[in-house]
Amino acid sequence: MKWLFFLLLASIQLYGFHAQKEYKAKDFSHLFEMKDFEHQLLEMHFTLYHGYVKNANFLLNELKKLADQGLERSYEFGAFKRRLGWEFDGMRLHELYFSNLGGTGRPKKTSSIYNAIVSQFGSFHAWKTDFAATGMIRGIGWVILYVDPEEKRLINTWINEHDTGHLSKGIPLLVMDVWEHAYLTQFGLDRAKYIQVFFENIEWDEVNERFMVHTHRDSRTGS
Ligand SMILES: [Fe+2]
Repeated sequence: MKWLFFLLLASIQLYGFHAQKEYKAKDFSHLFEMKDFEHQLLEMHFTLYHGYVKNANFLLNELKKLADQGLERSYEFGAFKRRLGWEFDGMRLHELYFSNLGGTGRPKKTSSIYNAIVSQFGSFHAWKTDFAATGMIRGIGWVILYVDPEEKRLINTWINEHDTGHLSKGIPLLVMDVWEHAYLTQFGLDRAKYIQVFFENIEWDEVNERFMVHTHRDSRTGS
């Protein structure tokens, strides 16, 4: 009987090694404490985020199944591959967005990110004006303050939907959702008001941490 137990254990370990890891939705319920965002809006937004996690897992699992069956040339394989970036970026961008909310909206003037912004844009106000204006572009998508690690340059970027416009090698530091679901039920068509409220709730310590981690990594690798 002992050998049967070990065989079972080995099978489980073998399966575990090959099984794909599932992405798990993160808990952002602490954001309900933000006074400027309605509970109902956030609840709906979290539900949408959970859908991206579910669909990213679904696509990765389906692609593995097709590959296991040798069906890489099938129509489904191509269609799922094309869709993967959209769902995955939808998941990851929401995580970055929710993680950079819940703060005071005021960056520490001694922080590295604040000083980098002032140094590169001339003033914090100039950067903020550019970021907010990017958020007013017609259409659905995201605004991302990227750092380009090659030049340590900060760039405010428009992302169409979830997956078009990302800067290669760019590290997202501050992420703002400007899909209509992010504001419409609370702010109506007043996207400018939503952007103002977003700014008032930015968690700048998180943004600074993202900046520090990557600039530190760059200095270690010498790149
Ligand atoms: Fe969203």
